[in-house]
Amino acid sequence: MTRARLACLFALMLLCGGATAADPMKLGLPPIPYPAGNSSTPDKVALGKKLFFDTRLAADGKMACATCHDPEEGFTTNGSATHPGSGGWPLKRNAPTVLNAAFEQALLWNGGMPSLEALAWGPMLNAEEMANLSATAVLERISALPDYAGMFERAFAGAGASKASFAQAIAAYERTLISGGSRFDRWWFGGDKSALNAEEQRGMLLFMFRAGCAQCHKVEQSYALFSDGKYHDVGAGVPAAGRPADPGRWEVTGEEEDRGKFRTPSLRNVALTAPYMHDGSLATLEEVVDFYDKGGGVSPNKVEWLYPLGLSAGDKRALAAFLKALTGEMPR
Ligand code: HEC
Ligand code: HEC
Repeated sequence: MTRARLACLFALMLLCGGATAADPMKLGLPPIPYPAGNSSTPDKVALGKKLFFDTRLAADGKMACATCHDPEEGFTTNGSATHPGSGGWPLKRNAPTVLNAAFEQALLWNGGMPSLEALAWGPMLNAEEMANLSATAVLERISALPDYAGMFERAFAGAGASKASFAQAIAAYERTLISGGSRFDRWWFGGDKSALNAEEQRGMLLFMFRAGCAQCHKVEQSYALFSDGKYHDVGAGVPAAGRPADPGRWEVTGEEEDRGKFRTPSLRNVALTAPYMHDGSLATLEEVVDFYDKGGGVSPNKVEWLYPLGLSAGDKRALAAFLKALTGEMPR
């Protein structure tokens, strides 16, 4: 065989899934979308990681991004439905995981943030979160910390800490928090038919077909984010016969039809990210499955095609088992 033909064969192997097989952590995921103007470099990522874990960034010196997005708890907090912010009051919403946030078209439960860069100063300045009075105050504080000396300059071609570089470093780190390669991915995309047991496969069929979950928690041809990136009201956390307590997507669009709608969350690593829903009102995946089996909650804008599913006890166990097979490889 000529050298050219060998090269050709090699290229074909790469095309046919080789790229994902080479990195099991990315199996089942689309390419990571890096925005123009914020390429990923090791120096930037190292700086972003240091910032993400640094409690000195909060006004009271006691809270970091990682306080609410804790790597030990699936990059969220499992202990509270709505984590207490700086004042000690519970926040309005349940903290989503930052794992795979890189793939979201719009961030936050209401989709109100266009990018990880745009979001970074939000929690820093929010009076209920890290409660800083101004970005300038934070940047001055960082500049005075000896352990940051030279880090911004190394990551940003000689430029010191600025509002933009701070946000870019944090976002660059967040784009390394990628997690695919779950047992589902190995079964569905990797062709490993031993990756899911019989009960999980039964749950997968229910998820894709009879229970209708995949209509919103989508699986595409070559990857799966388990979200349609759209906003729906499934009736979670709505008081009986009441209006939704949280206006959700309405905050962004001002359209009455969007009241009570939230972005479909990805279900990757969902076994690690309890409690569930925008308000953390469901404690376990079994409760989530029961909630959908009843046809969701009751709410004025609820999706009209959510209806009671009539699942058997075995079906429900299988569906929950399938959701637990979506836990991926953890970023190192
Ligand atoms: C006090 C707890 C708390 C702290 C501290 C905190 N967050 Fe969050 N985070 C939340 C909550 C709650 C939400 C959801 C808010 C919403 O959707 O309205 C959220 C949402 C996010 C999201 C959106 C994820 C998605 O899927 O839409 C990202 C990204 C994020 N935070 C990053 C950060 C970064 C970076 C920091 C530090 C600068 C930080 N957070 C600090 C609680 C916190
Ligand atoms: C109409 C679209 C839609 C359908 C169908 C749907 N979901 Fe959801 N799912 C959502 C939305 C939107 C949320 C967030 C709702 C909220 O927070 O109020 C959600 C939340 C969840 C959560 C919580 C995730 C988290 O991180 O908090 C789980 C688990 C879940 N759905 C599983 C399922 C299962 C299992 C099915 C099938 C029985 C299903 N969903 C059907 C749209 C849908």
